[in-house]
Amino acid sequence: MCGIVGYVGREEALPLILGGLERLEYRGYDSAGVALIEKGKLIVDKKVGKIRELVKSLWGKPYKAKIGIGHTRWATHGAPSEENAHPHTDEKGEFAVVHNGIIENYLTLREELKKEGVSFRSNTDTEVIAHLIAKNYNGDLLEAVLKTVRKLEGAFAFAVITVHEPERIVGVKQGSPLVVGIGKGENFLASDIPAILPYTRNVITLSDGEIADITPEGVNIYDFEGNPVAKEIMIVPWDIISAEKGGFKHFMLKEIYEQPKAVGDTIRGLVSEGDLPFSLKDFRRILMIACGTSYHAGLVGKFWIEKYAGVPTEVVYASEFRYADFPVSDEDLVVGISQSGETIDTKFALNFAKERGAKTLALVNVVGSSIDRESDYSLYTHAGPEIGVAATKTFTAQLTALLFLAVKGSEREEEALRSIMKIPSKLEKTLELSEDLENLALKYMKKKDFLYLGRYLSYPIALEGALKLKEISYIHAEGYPAGEMKHGPIALIDENMPVVVIAPKDRVYEKTLSNIEEVKTRKGIVLTVGYTGDERLKKISDEFIAVPEVEEDLSPFVTVVPLQLLAYHIASKLGLDVDQPRNLAKTVTVE
Ligand code: F6R
Repeated sequence: MCGIVGYVGREEALPLILGGLERLEYRGYDSAGVALIEKGKLIVDKKVGKIRELVKSLWGKPYKAKIGIGHTRWATHGAPSEENAHPHTDEKGEFAVVHNGIIENYLTLREELKKEGVSFRSNTDTEVIAHLIAKNYNGDLLEAVLKTVRKLEGAFAFAVITVHEPERIVGVKQGSPLVVGIGKGENFLASDIPAILPYTRNVITLSDGEIADITPEGVNIYDFEGNPVAKEIMIVPWDIISAEKGGFKHFMLKEIYEQPKAVGDTIRGLVSEGDLPFSLKDFRRILMIACGTSYHAGLVGKFWIEKYAGVPTEVVYASEFRYADFPVSDEDLVVGISQSGETIDTKFALNFAKERGAKTLALVNVVGSSIDRESDYSLYTHAGPEIGVAATKTFTAQLTALLFLAVKGSEREEEALRSIMKIPSKLEKTLELSEDLENLALKYMKKKDFLYLGRYLSYPIALEGALKLKEISYIHAEGYPAGEMKHGPIALIDENMPVVVIAPKDRVYEKTLSNIEEVKTRKGIVLTVGYTGDERLKKISDEFIAVPEVEEDLSPFVTVVPLQLLAYHIASKLGLDVDQPRNLAKTVTVE
């Protein structure tokens, strides 16, 4: 995945680049590095570990360079090590490259370069770019980059600087994200907008096949043939304040608490954006494609769409979609659900569906992201930037948008919209549970395994609760349809197994209570999430988490919040890195 930052201007580049990298750390944090040009020389510093290791190593070094590039890495090719950390340079140390994505034909290129006598210092795919640019350089960095990109295959973005032209950065986008920030007498490059938000809100989002040529005075965009491309400058509507922690210990907790606002803003945004340019009923089938938490939102959305629009709906993992023989046609609407709008599995799956004639709808949080730009239609969750790696407020915002999509144009649109408007206040009430969940966390944080069960709308919520726990606390957790338990997983239950059951009073309530009895009979520890005042449920539970009662359709909003809080408090009490759990990155731009 990785994050890239570049700066050229009149200020000292290093602090700006390090600040930008810190804001991109969610993209990966195995190693980090910077390259600066000072007094005609290339200075490269890199360290294994998080950005703070790099900052420590640079502490007190008197670099005054006005140009530089930086990188935070999530290892794909080559283990996390100093040699494999970016920036990578050519043999003479005149060119430095930072790169995000994968060069698929790098082994062939590496062999060709080796035959020409080039020696490699790392195991990365990136190093070939540095050597190729050096080889192709003839006094013009842009020209050398143009020659180089024609040889590269894969999905990637990179930035390059050279001592020969110490006021110029060239950035390339092909499949991985890259934006240009426009300043006064200074310009920026970054993988994502938050990296440069403190310095500018004027941004150009590059499209695939584009190259940015950046100096302090200007930015020119070209295609891979070297033809100039006219681009619009977008003014970013976010405020940097909303990307700071605001007094909370972790971004994740802050973002859990921001859910009433995220949901409210999403409703208001969707309503003000007006009618959809299509009707779900125009399609034979709806296919929803997503990964992780976004996939779980899709599973909930399926029930709503089938109920309100009556169109058969399937939800498929994006990573599974493209390589199966999925029959897709122009009668299908394919919805890509993605917080970042950059997840490569989702992006490729949508492109695959589009090539087969399907109409595509992006449901994204990041306006201007690749998935947004490449889809026929877009719907936005107005949740604001999400920094914690574990998705929380963007999940409930996705639910909001999916419910909106499902009811739009149906006979029950008005009534359903009135119900959606009540969600923020119900969420406020649910957040009051935080202290109770902290106490439960203390009691259960040493458990090795958890089961999460639910039926109907609560089944995807069980999956989401289990995902939250495993990704930030490293405790093994499984989500299961409660009725499936007796077909196998029930064998796992004994007196050490906490079983979290989501049991709102809905059409499957009685069935869920029977499933709880099955757990109790096997001596499992029963933690339930149910409606306030549900004495029956409380009586058969070891722990009862009471959320405010809502209409049947709305239960996922209120039942997911305590599961997010439980996972958060367990990970926090275990002293783990809640916002940046091991092995993960916020935006996954590799297959
Ligand atoms: C889990 C989580 C991931 C993402 C997944 C898709 O908390 O955040 O599972 O949901 O990587 O990301 P987006 O929605 O950006 O496509």
